[in-house]
Amino acid sequence: MVRAAVTSALASPGRSSGCTSTTASSEGATARFCWTRPNKTAEKDAQPNQTLRGFGFVERVKAAVEKACPDTVSCADVLALIARDAVWLSKGPFWEVPLGRRDGSVSISNETDALPPPTSNFTVLTQLFAAVNLDAKDLVVLSAGHTIGTSHCFSFSDRLYNFTGMENPSDIDPTLEPQYMMRLKSKCASLNDNTTLVEMDPGSFKTFDTDYFKLVSKRRGLFHSDGALLTDPFTRAYVQRHATGAFKDEFFADFAASMIKMGNANPLTGSQGEIRKKCNVVNH
Ligand code: HEM
Repeated sequence: MVRAAVTSALASPGRSSGCTSTTASSEGATARFCWTRPNKTAEKDAQPNQTLRGFGFVERVKAAVEKACPDTVSCADVLALIARDAVWLSKGPFWEVPLGRRDGSVSISNETDALPPPTSNFTVLTQLFAAVNLDAKDLVVLSAGHTIGTSHCFSFSDRLYNFTGMENPSDIDPTLEPQYMMRLKSKCASLNDNTTLVEMDPGSFKTFDTDYFKLVSKRRGLFHSDGALLTDPFTRAYVQRHATGAFKDEFFADFAASMIKMGNANPLTGSQGEIRKKCNVVNH
């Protein structure tokens, strides 16, 4: 049921694949993206989630699951299945999703402060990952989730126009490869462009492959956080090894293992939390 919905969403020309980034940012946080409060302080209203697309899609999948099997499958599990199927249908690896997690019973926007901002350096990234029991290998492996999907210009336009706060066309991130910078500038016309979407892995943004590592190794990672993987010897070596494209199976196995590990970070089980009826509202 989930796979059929993801297949049709991926096939649609104006597809919204935000559901994958929902899970991507931190699968420990997957369930947290769904809740809505009338006073706009729900997690999906918090800054890191404002670019997420696909809430409507997640809700449609959840509604179909509820119809077939009421009060049984949590939003956390639905999101994990959507992420798995989106990767697999993009020609990436397949893994069994350990099911049975429950949803949190509160929805507070500052809980999303744990999500890494795209401006993060290596130290911040490793700290935020460590907080959910993920290590430097998980960081470099999971960052390659950026082999699929698109980003809004404003998620990286500081690198093009306002890197040190001077807000002019020369105020650029010197770690970004100059030709790629020009290409991005031609797509994102200004610092304030908040509508344009850019492919994160140009040319194969619908295919899960090792091209992300090629890009990062050439200093063409879209976010500062992608480029930061070159600043640490361990993650740099991983990037360079997989930039060759010769170890695809190894990367796929690593990715599946890290996704399962991320999904197991601090899960609610047993009688903790609840099974949401709708992902964007609390039950009571
Ligand atoms: C390492 C820390 C990470 C940071 C800082 C980060 C940041 C971002 C940002 C800023 C966007 C673009 C949002 C927008 O402007 O629309 C994005 C999109 C995305 N991210 Fe990440 N991310 C991280 C980790 C991950 C992980 C672990 C995965 C997957 C396992 C992932 C998969 C994705 C995908 C698939 C999209 C595209 C979604 C779409 O096409 O709608 N990200 N990420």
